[in-house]
Amino acid sequence: MSFRNYKDKIEEGDTAILYLSNNLYAIDVRPEMKNKKGEIVENVYQTPFGALKVRTLIGANYGSRVELSKGWGHVIQPTPELWSLTLPHRTQIIYTPDISMILLQLDLVPGSIVIEAGTGSGSLTHALIRRVRPHGHVHTFDFHEHRSKVAQEEFQEHGIADFVTAKHRDVLADGFGEELNGKADAVFLDLPSPWIGVPHKFEHWAFGPHSRRTEDPRIGLSTEGHSKEHFYMEGNYTTANQQTDHDPAIALIL
Ligand SMILES: C[S@@+](CC[C@H](N)C(=O)[O-])C[C@H]1O[C@@H](n2cnc3c(N)ncnc32)[C@H](O)[C@@H]1O
Repeated sequence: MSFRNYKDKIEEGDTAILYLSNNLYAIDVRPEMKNKKGEIVENVYQTPFGALKVRTLIGANYGSRVELSKGWGHVIQPTPELWSLTLPHRTQIIYTPDISMILLQLDLVPGSIVIEAGTGSGSLTHALIRRVRPHGHVHTFDFHEHRSKVAQEEFQEHGIADFVTAKHRDVLADGFGEELNGKADAVFLDLPSPWIGVPHKFEHWAFGPHSRRTEDPRIGLSTEGHSKEHFYMEGNYTTANQQTDHDPAIALIL
C-alpha cells in the first residue's frame, strides 16, 4: 500500500525500495513467502551485500539504514519514478524523462480522465495515476491478457486500484468502449502503428466535438483556434531495451 500516501513506517504488504550501492531493488514486504515446493518459508531477500530478512523491515522508518548479512543499505518509500527503475519488465517501458514530457504535453491535472494503451508493464500508468488522483481516473487497456491481469494485481497491491481501471482489449480493433465516449481529457497510445486507430476509431469521442478530422494524424493534428491540441511523436523515447521489430510509436492526443 506504500504508493498511496507518504508515511513514516514500513508496514507488511508495502513495496519498499532498497537502495544499495547505487542499485535499487523493489522488495515485497512480507515476512514469509512460498518456496519452489510451495512450502511457506521465511522471506529472505538476497543481495550482493548478503541476505536481508524481510520481516526486519516491518516497523522500520522509511529512509532508515537496514542491516544485511554482509553490509547495509537504505530502505525508501516507492514513487512512480523509483518503480520505473525497479519494476519487473514485461515489456519495454517508458522512463521518467519521457513521462515528464508526456504529462506536461497532455496537460494532465488532478481530476483529469485519461485513457492509456497499452498498459505494458504499468510504468507510465503509475505516473498517470499519481498525476490525476484523487478525483481523476486512468483507464488503461492492453490486448495481452496476462499483462493486463498482472498490472491489475499490482495496482491492487500498491493501494491505487481505485484510481485506475485496467481492461484486456485490443483498442485498435475495438476502441475503448461506449461508456468512455466523450469522457476523456487525454488519450495516450504507446503501441505499434497507433495511427491505424487514431483517425478512424477514436476521433469522435477522443478528440471531442471541436476537433477536425484529419487524413494524416502525423502532420494534420491541428485544431486551429480550438482549445485542444494533438501531438504525435514517433519512436524517439529512451527505453533501455527498445526492440525495433516494429516501429514503436507514441501518440499523444488531447
Ligand atoms: C511498449 S508496451 C507499453 C509500455 C508502457 N507504456 C509502460 O510504460 O510500461 C506496449 C503494450 O501495448 C500492448 N498493445 C499493442 N497493441 C495493442 C492494441 N492494439 N490494443 C491494446 N494493447 C496493445 C502490448 O501488449 C504491450 O503490452
